[in-house]
Amino acid sequence: MQSSRIFIVGSGVVGAATGEGFLKAGHEVTFIDVSQPRIAELAARGFDVRSEIDLSAEPESLIFLTLPTPHEGHRYDLSAFEAGTTSVGKALAGSPARHTVVVRSTVPPGTTEGLVKTTLETHSGMTANEGFGLASNPEFLRAVSAAEDFANPWMTVVASRDPQTTERLRALLAPFGGELRTFTDPAQAEFIKCAHNIFNATKISFWNEMWLVAQKLGVDLDPIAATVARSAEGSINPQYGIRGGAPYGGVCLPKDTCGFLGFADNIGVDMPLLSAVVETNDRLATIVSDEVDTATHAASHAQLRESAATATTGTAAADPSTEAVAASGRQQHEPA
Ligand SMILES: NC(=O)c1ccc[n+]([C@@H]2O[C@H](COP(=O)([O-])OP(=O)(O)OC[C@H]3O[C@@H](n4cnc5c(N)ncnc54)[C@H](O)[C@@H]3O)[C@@H](O)[C@H]2O)c1
Repeated sequence: MQSSRIFIVGSGVVGAATGEGFLKAGHEVTFIDVSQPRIAELAARGFDVRSEIDLSAEPESLIFLTLPTPHEGHRYDLSAFEAGTTSVGKALAGSPARHTVVVRSTVPPGTTEGLVKTTLETHSGMTANEGFGLASNPEFLRAVSAAEDFANPWMTVVASRDPQTTERLRALLAPFGGELRTFTDPAQAEFIKCAHNIFNATKISFWNEMWLVAQKLGVDLDPIAATVARSAEGSINPQYGIRGGAPYGGVCLPKDTCGFLGFADNIGVDMPLLSAVVETNDRLATIVSDEVDTATHAASHAQLRESAATATTGTAAADPSTEAVAASGRQQHEPA
């Protein structure tokens, strides 16, 4: 494999894991950070680390933005992200080589082709996808196992308007293994990463809300949750329920969501998430005319058994036959 010149801008949890992973794969990596303690820490580990990016004497390179994007109330604070992007734009201006800027931070959809593109073009005097390449490649690693997750990804997402940039990143990232999906619109990649985190957060809150009910009833939630994790089609069939614009209908889902809200209320448990589930479904039903039966989301028994077995062995793979069922909307399975 050809060695690439790589810059990591923002060398915290994600930046360090990313840079170290590329180093181990044989690439030439320089870490950039504005924090002196962080610079000293990485230098002590033997890394090439600098406080500023300088591309004036550099050949073509890949510049990964792994800058912080914290939230402040109900908004992303992109000030540090913008400052780091500005420094990259200025560095591009002084370089004769064509570099590729890759957004790896988690950002709201539209940031790569909005803030990043505008900032880089303003400070470099160049045009994106001409003077420099531009791509989104969100990071899915977990902080607790950052290095390991980077080295063994289960999903890699790359998006760029420029097919050459996409191929360049595919060549760099494919050797790490796992599934690699490419998109032409960077906003889709950004959206994937946000939805990925929000889905996980929603699932956690769902079971915490159920835990409050179980506490009230004096029953142990753990075996209940563990069983539902194996029985609910939403858990074992990756295609179930993921079609947008298709609210649930039929008998059982409306009955049990609404009925359980009243049951919980009677025992003094407030369920804001379940209330929001019902409200969201009601709103969607008024927006879209084709309310679907639960069966539309469902797979066949054979597919379910296969999904459950795959979930148990942990060798999940996209099942084209299940995908076809979800896409066609055929009714395959009677709702419970
Ligand atoms: N931590 C995770 O588990 C995780 C996983 C996936 C994605 N992400 C996303 O990756 C991004 C980075 O997260 P993190 O956890 O690595 O953050 P972090 O706070 O650990 O690291 C960010 C680093 O950027 C540096 N920095 C700040 N401003 C800078 C600038 N102008 N120029 C250069 N360096 C600058 C900081 O000093 C810090 O070392 C965020 O968007 C985050 O949401 C985080």
